[in-house]
Amino acid sequence: MKKYLALFLAILMALTVFAGCTAAEEEPAGTNKFNLTTVKEGYLTVVTSPDYAPYEFYALNDEGKPELAGFDMYLAQYIADYLGLTLEVVPVDFNGILGEMAAGSADLAVAGLSPEPERAEKMDFSEIYYGGKQAFVTTTDKAEQFPDLASANKAGISVGAQSGTIQQELALQYSADAEQVTLVKATEIIAEVINGSLDGAYVEWDVAESYKKQYPNLHIVCEVPYENDGNIVGVAKGNEELLKYVNEAIKKCVDEGTFAQYLEKANALAAGEKYEGMLDEEGNIPTEGLG
Ligand code: ARG
Repeated sequence: MKKYLALFLAILMALTVFAGCTAAEEEPAGTNKFNLTTVKEGYLTVVTSPDYAPYEFYALNDEGKPELAGFDMYLAQYIADYLGLTLEVVPVDFNGILGEMAAGSADLAVAGLSPEPERAEKMDFSEIYYGGKQAFVTTTDKAEQFPDLASANKAGISVGAQSGTIQQELALQYSADAEQVTLVKATEIIAEVINGSLDGAYVEWDVAESYKKQYPNLHIVCEVPYENDGNIVGVAKGNEELLKYVNEAIKKCVDEGTFAQYLEKANALAAGEKYEGMLDEEGNIPTEGLG
């Protein structure tokens, strides 16, 4: 009897695991309320770069498993629901985002994107959904050395920015005489500032604020002027219908106060256990990503 029970339990377990897998892989297509043309019918394919708390990152759940989080991700879900499409998020490194959009392999890019005019060749821009701004950071022990933005422009110092971002341009503009270092992940940039390999870095203001909670010796020197401040959703170039409804969804989300709740939730989760970067093929945190 016991033997049968064990066998039964084993089968049951196998079935649940199996059901779990297929459910995750084959989430049914949405109703596609507005009859939109998307990369995959009935789905909203969204590229992001989850190294950017509180915009997009992995929050660790009670079992320590990474789950996509961040106000950009909640907004993406809101837009998908509004359109009646099933959300499919594709994480890539930030410098891959423009390429994915140019290649037409995603419907949206939701990645704390700034409306940099050059990008308009590769994607259309939604209305601004968040008034993000830019910051120059260093560590508290170097605060006196960097009292203002002008002090970030001299030979003999090194400043960093994430590759492919507008912060890379800001570094060139405001720290022309300094050594410029670009790294693939925002996380790496901050890590280098904290360990002293970099003297300073250019990052999005909210990202700096979020890191400050994790590294109290991170010091925000000042806001960095940038003419295209604010964040937009990148929309597949030429998909006018999609752009129209994405803007509708954003407007509703912001106007009704839902987006403000997303900000709060994302900031709370970003202050807890998290991981920023890409997962391995099994959806786990790569071991070199720990510590
Ligand atoms: N706002 C900046 C830009 O558009 C940086 C965005 C970085 N995003 C990210 N998910 N790492 O260039």
